[in-house]
Amino acid sequence: MKTGDKYILLEKMSPLQKEALEDPEKFWGEQAKCLDWEKTWSKVLDWDYPNAEWFVGGKLNACYNCVDRHIKGNRRNKAAIIWEGEDGSCEVLTYYELYRQVNMFANVLQNLGVEKGDVVAIYMPMMTEAVVAMLACARIGAIHNTVFSGFSSEALSERINNSKAKVLVSTNTLYRRGKKIDLKGIVDKSALNCNSLNNVIYVPRGDEDIKLSFGRDYLWDELMAGARSRVEPEIMDSNDPLFILYTSGTTGSPKGVVHATGGYLTYATKTMDWTWGIEDTDVFWCTADIGWITGHSYVVYGPLSLGSTIVIYEGAIDYPEPDRLWKIIEKHGVTILYTAPTAIRMLMKYGEKWVKNHDLSTLRLLGTVGEPINPRAWKWYYSVVGDKNCPICDCYWQTETGGHVIYPPNGIQTVPLKPGSASFAGVGIEADIVDKDGKSVPPNTKGNLIIKKPWPGMLKGLWNDPERYKASYWNKIPGVFATSDYATKDDDGYIWILGRADEVLNVAGHRIGTAELEHELVSNPMVAESAVIGKPDEVKGEVPVAFVTLNPEYVGRPKEELKKELIQYIRDTMGPIAIPSIIFFVSKMPKTRSGKIMRRILKKLVVGEEIGDISTLEDTTSVDEIKQQLKGSK
Ligand code: PRX
Repeated sequence: MKTGDKYILLEKMSPLQKEALEDPEKFWGEQAKCLDWEKTWSKVLDWDYPNAEWFVGGKLNACYNCVDRHIKGNRRNKAAIIWEGEDGSCEVLTYYELYRQVNMFANVLQNLGVEKGDVVAIYMPMMTEAVVAMLACARIGAIHNTVFSGFSSEALSERINNSKAKVLVSTNTLYRRGKKIDLKGIVDKSALNCNSLNNVIYVPRGDEDIKLSFGRDYLWDELMAGARSRVEPEIMDSNDPLFILYTSGTTGSPKGVVHATGGYLTYATKTMDWTWGIEDTDVFWCTADIGWITGHSYVVYGPLSLGSTIVIYEGAIDYPEPDRLWKIIEKHGVTILYTAPTAIRMLMKYGEKWVKNHDLSTLRLLGTVGEPINPRAWKWYYSVVGDKNCPICDCYWQTETGGHVIYPPNGIQTVPLKPGSASFAGVGIEADIVDKDGKSVPPNTKGNLIIKKPWPGMLKGLWNDPERYKASYWNKIPGVFATSDYATKDDDGYIWILGRADEVLNVAGHRIGTAELEHELVSNPMVAESAVIGKPDEVKGEVPVAFVTLNPEYVGRPKEELKKELIQYIRDTMGPIAIPSIIFFVSKMPKTRSGKIMRRILKKLVVGEEIGDISTLEDTTSVDEIKQQLKGSK
């Protein structure tokens, strides 16, 4: 079977892939020439397990690569960003205009004392200024730490404090479904708990007056008015950090994933091209928020490094009508759409007529990311949206991988697609599916998806936490990078992602650590114990379900009241995306005799599976109680 397996993979392999796997260092050295370097590296890879240094001794600037080099060529007046607000207003920024704004904002940051190596937090919705702020940081060598604007003030403080960010860039108001969300209120609350934070810069949105805190807060426009129009890009070492992005892990606190400049930018640029085969006339719309890795690699760094035109949309894709997304594609002539299965399923529910009212003939490729796509949604995307003309690029990757690692390489080779499979390991990625000891499993067997050798997009580490880096990625299965996803390979060598192997939920494509949510629940004085599991959901893929036991003084209170309070509490501490879809109040948890909560049993009960042998439980009546409650909730 082993040789058969290898044979199939080799047959599907492009010449580029063969080259990459035969001599990775030579290969990546060639690929890195897609960037403009101030100084060439002396060594392609320094691999001191588990730490990789890419393009050692090489010098470059990421902002220069995404902006300056295009204005020197014939893209000076090309649209870099087409922005659309939820209210329908539009703004187009050419590469030259982007260059000007980035330079000026880089100077604004310098004037506030931001230096190379300092951290700048960005807490903004999808506005052009968010991209400008990221690139301005890169220009002066500051490390950006983008925080999703749907996160709560506590989550924001935690990320500012952990990274010791000096400056925060934000806005006063966020528009969502026609409603205004007071982002400034959240920032004010958060800033109170952040000792490292010296200044907050607000991009004004709407016409309200913004109350500024004297000496701390500034308005973007006012600072920009006094800024110099040119700032030399800082020459960075290839291995200097470009950004930190926090993501959920299996334990309580979020992990600060660090990506370094040269390797990350090479990988984001090349995978952008290998996946989509970018042409100069493409209008690329990735609907991800810049608060997530997809927003970093395929809204900002990948497309802009290639000099593409990107679309950025501020609001909800089904507002004010279910056809908003299709309208935007038609209006701006989008050629490549990259979105998440949860969005596709939601739009599919509204029905075909909303799609068919629009001319989507500009589309040439459709992408999906963030979670496994179910074949029904895949087929709808392919036939209704793409009119059977657009291949579906199911791209599997993670915050940690920096760019796509399993994907159909449309830019270099066509492979027959299978709905629900992300197809094959990408160029230069040596992936395998193994058991817990690292032994390859036979085809059609569930195993752990791993990557055997370092690649340039691989995270540089976890911010100030080398031990956790080792433990999270390299010690699970010794010698290889563990993705923490289950997968299987079929007889044709296609890889099928089966979901997380750890306690991380994937809710509408967003990672939520069950441990993080449990930790927040027990931080509430009402809650004695909590256990969180994921329940399959037709639209979101998965939703969190919480079980809690109450502290004695709260036991008699009406459950609806408690539920409301807990939901509000999670909204405030973690943000709306983490709110459990159901909360069960139980008098005891099913536990082993050693006191471990059996989440596996809770999950089986919720999804309606046979729970099997429960003789290891300390008290089986806990199961009966939950069964009763489940009956009541149906
Ligand atoms: O479980 C996998 C799932 O999303 C996780 C990574 O989440 P995050 O770091 O937030 O990055 C999301 C966007 C890259 C993975 O461990 N995932 C991502 N893409 C896919 C996927 N699951 C199945 N198919 C995909 N295409």
